[in-house]
Amino acid sequence: MKSTLAIALIFIASTAAANEVDTRRILPLTEHQRDHVLTEMRALLSGTQNILDALSKEDMTAVAREARSLGIGMAHKGEDHLKAVLPKEFIQMGMSVHKAFDQIATDAESMKDTQHTVRQLSKAMQTCNACHAGYQIRLKEHSTGRETQSSHHQHQHQH
Ligand code: HEC
Repeated sequence: MKSTLAIALIFIASTAAANEVDTRRILPLTEHQRDHVLTEMRALLSGTQNILDALSKEDMTAVAREARSLGIGMAHKGEDHLKAVLPKEFIQMGMSVHKAFDQIATDAESMKDTQHTVRQLSKAMQTCNACHAGYQIRLKEHSTGRETQSSHHQHQHQH
């Protein structure tokens, strides 16, 4: 009985969501900026998976290495052009995730406690969710590539 109710509620919730428009705050980015953000996002996801994989093997050296690669060092890779266009709170949430991964790396090295790392990872990922709940990317109107029409005709057949 209870599970039927739960399924009904999930159905209602997802139906409602399907009829809604995406009300998350819009980040108007150029194609290049969008690619930069999404590339970093995919690195965060695969890095997180690498951490879980290392955790499952209780390989804390690998946990530390993978977590470090998602730390503050990751954020400094050519992001100045993005800092100027992204909202301050967005940058801060991003930074707090990078800092959390640095802390995970440091603790993995010194404490070698898998449960502690799992808790830290879960907490860090709440920030992934918080940010995703609040923002969406849309391409800036002037970055559709229409203005560079002539470049579409440059199909060079070289060999
Ligand atoms: C500061 C904000 C922020 C944080 C923190 C954040 N993300 Fe994202 N992420 C975004 C935005 C914005 C998008 C694009 C969403 C959209 O346009 O619908 C995105 C998209 C993604 C995507 C889709 C990538 C693609 O190629 O389409 C993945 C995967 C992702 N994030 C993973 C993560 C993971 C994992 C974390 C945490 C470890 C994380 N993100 C933390 C803002 C954030």
